[in-house]
Amino acid sequence: MNDSTGCATCPGAPAPATGPTRRQVVTGAGAAVAFGAPTLAGCAGGKGSTSDGADAPGVEFPASDVPVGGGAIKQGWVVTQPTEGTYKAFSSKCTHQGCGVSQIKDGAIICTCHGSEFSVEDGSVLAGPAQDALPEGKAEVSGDTVKAGPA
Ligand code: FES
Repeated sequence: MNDSTGCATCPGAPAPATGPTRRQVVTGAGAAVAFGAPTLAGCAGGKGSTSDGADAPGVEFPASDVPVGGGAIKQGWVVTQPTEGTYKAFSSKCTHQGCGVSQIKDGAIICTCHGSEFSVEDGSVLAGPAQDALPEGKAEVSGDTVKAGPA
């Protein structure tokens, strides 16, 4: 519609005298996308999200908080102890749509957003909809503390 109603978006409509040029709009949109990307990534965390997971800074867990065959979740990381004295660290960011995993039960790290489950042994997918394993980090034991962080 290119008529006296002033439709600026209609084909053939003249650029508004005081509005941004098409180039400014396009450039602005790109900037919005670029600046919006971290926000979108943050949104991808969704309900229950903690942080960005494998790129999250390291965090310490009391070893007593990490049961054999289970684990603990804290600040972007999951630390598990599949067998006595063996600790593993995984990103807590679900590989499905980015929620933070929120439960560990019966050998599974569970994302309650859509029900994905991951192995406490290697982070592999036990149940979808996630298709990819949780990214593995590094778990280091020091005394009574287990530190999880990027590999
Ligand atoms: S985001 Fe985890 S199951 Fe969908």
